[in-house]
Amino acid sequence: MTEPLWTEVDAYLCDALAPEDAALKAAAARSLAAGLPAIQVTANQGKLLHLLARAVGARRILEIGTLGGYSTIWLARALAEGGRLITLESEDRHADVAERNFAEAGLSAMVELRRGRALETLPNLADEAPFDFVFIDADKPNIPGYFAAALDLTRPGGLIVVDNVVRDGRVVDAASEDPDILGVRKFNELAAREPRVSATAIQTVGTKGYDGFALLLAQPAI
Ligand code: SAH
Ligand code: DHB
Ligand code: MG
Repeated sequence: MTEPLWTEVDAYLCDALAPEDAALKAAAARSLAAGLPAIQVTANQGKLLHLLARAVGARRILEIGTLGGYSTIWLARALAEGGRLITLESEDRHADVAERNFAEAGLSAMVELRRGRALETLPNLADEAPFDFVFIDADKPNIPGYFAAALDLTRPGGLIVVDNVVRDGRVVDAASEDPDILGVRKFNELAAREPRVSATAIQTVGTKGYDGFALLLAQPAI
């Protein structure tokens, strides 16, 4: 589901407030040329992630789902001095493109890409925790598992952002057997009763169609 006007407004907003520099443009172009799916965040969404990470003063950022590293670049540029970002990716083909993009963007020193399925690599991150900001954007059926891991890895006051929680509105279909929808709905149930976070979600429209983000603020357990 896309409307020409959503795309037109996104183009206007990106141009006005979230212009891509040469490195971001090159990263998107290189990902496209390599045949990666064009499902990265839009520039204004990337800037939103960047601003949220800056707002929590992020020094340690975790991303689950790298693709070609487009969102990673927006996030890495939010890091406070001396900060580090770890991004998890299961597809070597995607990881190869991403690492090239990080190098070209001058971010190789701050960004570490870990290959493998995230449910298997997340347990190895205890030494890198706590994170100030976590972006969950990999396969949707595993969002509940990624959320559980993120809860253990995020400091109180840290922020967890989850992409793709509306999916053309299909999230409201309680009878859905789509594994993506089941993943998002299970995640919402877990988030709602989880005392360690305060959560909300918002719908978005734009170049990528009709979807949404969930935002969860980590807080001390009660
Ligand atoms: N965050 C990126 C887009 C990520 S697309 C951006 O906005 O620029 C989702 C990515 O998650 C894909 O590259 C896919 O290969 C990866 N992925 C899917 N399943 C995964 C898993 N189990 N573990 C780690 N990465 C996974
Ligand atoms: C799609 C979009 C995403 O942002 C994502 O993470 C995965 C898939 C999609 O439009 O198919
Ligand atoms: Mg996404």
